[in-house]
Amino acid sequence: MKWLRIPEQTFSSEKEIQLLKLSGTKFCLIHHQGHWYATATRCTHAGANLAYGWCEKGEIICPYHRHRFNLINGKGAEGQNNYIRTYRLQQREDGIYIELPQSLFRKILDFFKLL
Ligand code: FES
Repeated sequence: MKWLRIPEQTFSSEKEIQLLKLSGTKFCLIHHQGHWYATATRCTHAGANLAYGWCEKGEIICPYHRHRFNLINGKGAEGQNNYIRTYRLQQREDGIYIELPQSLFRKILDFFKLL
């Protein structure tokens, strides 16, 4: 896992859900009720793009069949028996950071940069 700064020019605090890609990983950056969240883009029910959904009461709602997922832990609503991935965010002096997984390829590249 690696913390990466989300470039300010790639998102707006005026939009509730934005589809972003950083270091090869797509995610939904969500600004809901004054707080920032980050989730996976694909719904685990049938693969819809959650960036076309909306948020209500701390949950993201899938646009296809209305499955609901908690914005903090990704847990599906009662009876759904599913979840989506969520990513940790940190608000720092110079911007918002997201903790993203690193592919093996990226780890190898980073290793050789250190040599
Ligand atoms: S694809 Fe998301 S609820 Fe069915």
